[in-house]
Amino acid sequence: MIDTDTMVQAGASVVERLEIVGGRKLRGVVNVSGAKNAVLKLMAASLLSNSQCIIRNAPKIRDVETMIGVLRSLGMEISWADENTLRITNNGDLKDTASDELVRQMRASAQVMGPLLTKIGRVKLFQPGGCVIGQRPLDLHLKGFQALGAEVIEEHGYILAQARGGLKGTEILLDFPSVGATENIMAAAILAEGVTIIRNAAKEPEIIEEQNFYNRLGARIRGAGTDTIRIEGVSQLNNRDIDYTVIPDRIEAGTFMIAAAAGGDVEIAALIPEHVEALISKLKEIGIEVETKEESVRVRSTGRYRSADVTVLPYPGFPTDLQPQITALLAVADGTSIITENVFGSRFRYVDELIRMGAAIRVESRSAIVKGNTKLSGAPVYAPDLRAGAALVIAGLLAEGKTTIEGVQYLERGYERLEEKLVGLGAEIKRLD
Ligand code: EPZ
Repeated sequence: MIDTDTMVQAGASVVERLEIVGGRKLRGVVNVSGAKNAVLKLMAASLLSNSQCIIRNAPKIRDVETMIGVLRSLGMEISWADENTLRITNNGDLKDTASDELVRQMRASAQVMGPLLTKIGRVKLFQPGGCVIGQRPLDLHLKGFQALGAEVIEEHGYILAQARGGLKGTEILLDFPSVGATENIMAAAILAEGVTIIRNAAKEPEIIEEQNFYNRLGARIRGAGTDTIRIEGVSQLNNRDIDYTVIPDRIEAGTFMIAAAAGGDVEIAALIPEHVEALISKLKEIGIEVETKEESVRVRSTGRYRSADVTVLPYPGFPTDLQPQITALLAVADGTSIITENVFGSRFRYVDELIRMGAAIRVESRSAIVKGNTKLSGAPVYAPDLRAGAALVIAGLLAEGKTTIEGVQYLERGYERLEEKLVGLGAEIKRLD
C-alpha cells in the first residue's frame, strides 16, 4: 500500500479519505439512484439520435461526468437539465475519435464504438487499459464488428474500426456472455443491412434498457434479456425526441442491502427487487431477514451470520459487482465460506486490506476461502477500485473501532452521495482531507 505521505510528497493532490467508526446500527430508508451501468450506455446510445434525448434519474457520479466529456469530444451537446436529468442534442457533425485522456480514465468509453461504427462508419479509440479487477480485453467486441464486415486494426495503442462497404447483418456466437460486447454489437447492427442474431448474449437488465431506448429511436431489436438478441437492420432512424428514465442501480441497492445485513434494519427503496434476486436468496441463506415489497426490500440483520458459498456468474447469477461486498460480510460469519469469481480474472485485490482488518481469507486461483469467526478491527486501508471500496466501507461498519479508507475517488465513480446516504441511516462516517 502506498502510504499517504509518499503520495503527497510525490505531488499527488491531497488524498481524500473516509473515516468510519464501526458498530453503529443502520436504521431507516435509503433511496437507490439511477443505474451507472445503464446510464453510461444510454448516453453512448444517444449518438444514434437525430434529435434530442432527455435522460432522467441519471446519477451524478464521476463516471457520468467522464462520459459527458467523451460525448462532448465527439461533438455532442450535453448538459445537466437539473440535478439528475441530462439533455443531449446531436447537432449532426459527429467526430470519429473521442478524447484519449477521457477514454483512458474509463473503459466504458469503449461503448461509443458500436454507435459510431453504425452511424458514421468509422471509429478510432485509444485502447482503454485494463484495471485492477483484471485483464479486460475487447476482443469479443472487435470480432463482432469484423463479423459484421468492419475492418479492425489495432496499432500504436489505438483501435481503428471502419465499415468501408457498410455493415451486413450476420449471426454471432459470443464465446462469453460479455455485457459490453453484447451492447456494442447490438448497436453496430442497428443500421447494418439485413438481420443480425447475437447468441450467448449477456442478459443483464441494463441491456433491456438499451433495446428499449434504441427502439424508441426507430431501431428494430428483440430478445434483450434473453441469450438471443435479434436486430433487424434499418436504413435510417427517426427524428423523434426521446425522454427516458434510467432504471435503479441494482448494484448500489445490493451494496446497501449488504451494509444493512452487516448491522441494522433498513428499507432499500426505489429499486426493482427482481434485479437483486440472487443476493436476496444468498442473504437469506446467511440468516439475514429480507422482506420484499413492490419497489423496496427491507433487510434486518440478526447479528448472527451463517457461512455460505458464493458462485459469481453472469446475470441472473450472483453478480461480480457484489462479490467484494458479500465477502466482507462473510468474513464475520460462523464457519468457512468459499467465494468463486467466474467473471473477472483477479477481483480479489481488496482481500489484503480485509486481512489487515483481521479477516482470515486465503485466495487460491479463482476462489477466496473465508474462514469466518473473526472479529474485524478498524485499520487504515486502501481501496484499489470501486466495488473494493464498497467492501471496505462494509468492513468498516462491521469492525470495532476506526477505519480510514483511501481511494474515495473510486467510490465517487459509481456511488452517488454514498457517505451522505450512510450518515442518513445512522452510520458514523466522515470525509478526511
Ligand atoms: C460491465 O463491464 C460492467 N461495467 C461491470 O461493472 C460488470 O462487472 C461487468 O459488465 C460484468 O457484469 C459497465 O457496464 C460499465 P464484460 P464489461 O464484457 O462490459 C471478459 C462496475 O463495478 N471479456 O461482461 O467490461 C472480461 O475480461 C463494473 O460497475 C473478454 O475476454 O464486462 C471479463 O473477464 C466493473 N473479451 C468478462 O469477459 C471481451 O471482448 C466479463 O466482461 C469482453 C469481455
